[in-house]
Amino acid sequence: MGASVPEEAAFAHEVRRGEPILEVRELVKHFPLTKGVVFKKQVGAVKAVDGVSFDLMQGETLGIVGESGCGKSTLAKVLMNLEPASSGSVRYKGEEISRLSGAGLKAVRRNIQMVFQDPYTSLNPRMTVGDIIGEPFEIHPEVAPKGGRRKAVEDLLDVVGLNPEYINRYPHQFSGGQRQRIGIARGLALKPEIIICDEPVSALDVSVQAQVINLLEQLQSEFNLSYMFIAHDLSIVRHISDRVGVMYLGKMVEIGTDAEIYDHATHPYTQALLSAVPVPDPQARESRDRIVLTGDVPSPANPPSGCRFRTRCWKAQERCALEVPPLSSPSWLDGLAVHDSACHFAAEREAEPGGAAGPPETV
Ligand SMILES: Nc1ncnc2c1ncn2[C@@H]1O[C@H](COP(=O)(O)OP(=O)(O)OP(=O)(O)O)[C@@H](O)[C@H]1O
Ligand code: SF4
Ligand SMILES: [Mg+2]
Repeated sequence: MGASVPEEAAFAHEVRRGEPILEVRELVKHFPLTKGVVFKKQVGAVKAVDGVSFDLMQGETLGIVGESGCGKSTLAKVLMNLEPASSGSVRYKGEEISRLSGAGLKAVRRNIQMVFQDPYTSLNPRMTVGDIIGEPFEIHPEVAPKGGRRKAVEDLLDVVGLNPEYINRYPHQFSGGQRQRIGIARGLALKPEIIICDEPVSALDVSVQAQVINLLEQLQSEFNLSYMFIAHDLSIVRHISDRVGVMYLGKMVEIGTDAEIYDHATHPYTQALLSAVPVPDPQARESRDRIVLTGDVPSPANPPSGCRFRTRCWKAQERCALEVPPLSSPSWLDGLAVHDSACHFAAEREAEPGGAAGPPETV
């Protein structure tokens, strides 16, 4: 299918549940670092996303987790076509996004939507919620023709659990959780197939976080949506994700199903993140060893050679500085430990009292 087909016909074919709707291969986004005012000279690059590959399956929620600055939002922006990729491939329903223009590109923009982190800054304070939610209809009038827009917005308010009578109110008249519901309603307006949620609950109180996550889950089954759900830590994505990908310094270091990542993680970085997840059961908490990572995350403009995690990894050996570990399933593991992990010495962490499998807390 080329770029010249009418928008309604573009990507009309169905992708069945469990099949990839988005295929990302070796995606790279480098931001050039320049010197000089008049004659700008490139002196390096921030390697924000540096060779990331994964599939997003139809109907699934893929959680993406990693510390601040590891490239999560940049990844989202490149997938949304808000930033051009430096190299690599993103296929939506089999079509290379970067090669699309005209109706094809418009259709992708309609079918992949984003919900942003901060409901305080992502909504224009001078617009009513009706205008905010209905704004996408200006670009895609075929979804809600002029006479039917008010009704379409009222329906969307209802779908996200807000009173349709609030249509003429302004963002400041809503609480944080309600504003995020407005952001979600706007994301749903064009009836997308994929929603990329970039830390949608991070700015909200814990009690409100659960409500927004429940709403997203309910909408997913109602509208057959596929989600990418970005978060800082593993505890937030646990309940909503079918699979989880862990990022470190522009790379995907481990990816697998819920059970594979939470109960059989094989990458030291994932194990460190998991050890910091709060455990409600006091007994389980006592028997668990916290892995405290030392040192700062290196600069993405000058990442370590070989494995990028090696400067903070307690298992690092000479080989780790020389060879980039591929994201693949290690042949020496079995059971649920067999999933993609970018570590030369991938292994499950042994639950030994005394923490033999991790560094002492005070290292
Ligand atoms: N437009 C830009 N120009 C230059 N560097 C950028 C730009 N956008 C992001 N970066 C850099 O790219 C790296 C990744 O940033 P990104 O915002 O994707 O991280 P993140 O994982 O979303 O972090 P956070 O959890 O704080 O939101 C950071 O070092 C950031 O400073
Ligand atoms: S490859 Fe080496 S440095 Fe990287 S995570 Fe594995 S053991 Fe640690
Ligand atoms: Mg971010």
